[in-house]
Amino acid sequence: MALNWLITGGGGFLGTALIRRLLSEEIAASVRVLDNLSVGGRDDLGEVCRFVEKEPGDLSAGSLPGVTLVVGDIRDPDVCALCCSGMDVVVHFAANTGVPASIDNPRLDMECNVVGTFNMLEAARGAGAARFVFASSGAPAGEVEPPIHEELPPHPVSPYGASKLAGEGYCSAYYKSFGLETVALRFGNVYGPGSIHKGSVVARFIKNALAGKHLEIYGDGTQTRDFIYIDDLIDAVVLSATRPGIGGETFQIATSRETTVLEIAEMVSGAMEDQALGRPEIRMAGPRPGDVKRNFSDTGKAEAMLGWKCRVNLEEGIAETVKFFINMKGSTEIS
Ligand SMILES: NC(=O)c1ccc[n+]([C@@H]2O[C@H](COP(=O)([O-])OP(=O)(O)OC[C@H]3O[C@@H](n4cnc5c(N)ncnc54)[C@H](O)[C@@H]3O)[C@@H](O)[C@H]2O)c1
Repeated sequence: MALNWLITGGGGFLGTALIRRLLSEEIAASVRVLDNLSVGGRDDLGEVCRFVEKEPGDLSAGSLPGVTLVVGDIRDPDVCALCCSGMDVVVHFAANTGVPASIDNPRLDMECNVVGTFNMLEAARGAGAARFVFASSGAPAGEVEPPIHEELPPHPVSPYGASKLAGEGYCSAYYKSFGLETVALRFGNVYGPGSIHKGSVVARFIKNALAGKHLEIYGDGTQTRDFIYIDDLIDAVVLSATRPGIGGETFQIATSRETTVLEIAEMVSGAMEDQALGRPEIRMAGPRPGDVKRNFSDTGKAEAMLGWKCRVNLEEGIAETVKFFINMKGSTEIS
């Protein structure tokens, strides 16, 4: 049976990729997007679908076929409740994203990621939603010996990690206390086509390289991350929203491959050369507060319980991402 999906943050990188998938595979009966347009915009949504726009108060007639955009904020509980009404699956992507933003403004990070997630869980519970998928990250684990897995005690080092950990805690509690089938996904560093607004490392390197600038590495480049291609991540989200028997679970969604930031810079440079573009210079800058030294995941639990495995290898994924950015005329400035 096709389901009604609410995607918070549906105008962003992951949200638009999910909408593209839901429409191309005809998985959803309807898609509703709740986004305050602080990052993703109507143009981003327009790149992947046709949509109608509704005020939160005009949604009471139930789900509309196709895609409906509601411009609103997850910090407003009434908006969250109106948007959840009639929805079967809630995919909660909207957030204050990333470590640096949380260091700059930890209160905003807390209000969006803790209160906003709480509002969405309450709204999903009130609406009787069948499944709630929460976008977490590697950040709750913090400074621990990798590979990160679901049973490691978390030690977040940034407000972002703390706020995502709080979201995971509420997801677990809403499953145990109220039976809302929550699934928390701890994403690695996501990259790929569509990451036009992102300041994360792969997108930043490519945008800088295309703008003729050097690639700046914070720290000495030996810090490691686990880079996951957007299509693999979307596979995991769709499975998490639909697979039975996984309520209350948390999964590491990454590749189990540890890659240094210097290796990424070199891969981006190599992919630029392959496209007959110049090889950018790589420079080191000071380390950033809140960044952990090593981070990669053990994805065994997701493989066993979700039946999911990443398919795209890093070199291929970087090459596809470079091609995407080359095709995006006039989009080479870091946004
Ligand atoms: N991209 C990654 O590498 C990555 C890694 C780990 C976790 N995540 C998590 O995945 C989720 C999606 O990430 P993304 O890369 O698509 O981010 P994004 O910034 O591209 O998209 C987030 C969307 O949420 C919207 N939004 C932000 N605050 C809002 C609010 N208060 N109310 C309503 N809408 C709001 C923005 O306008 C934007 O369209 C986030 O929760 C993020 O923390 C992303």
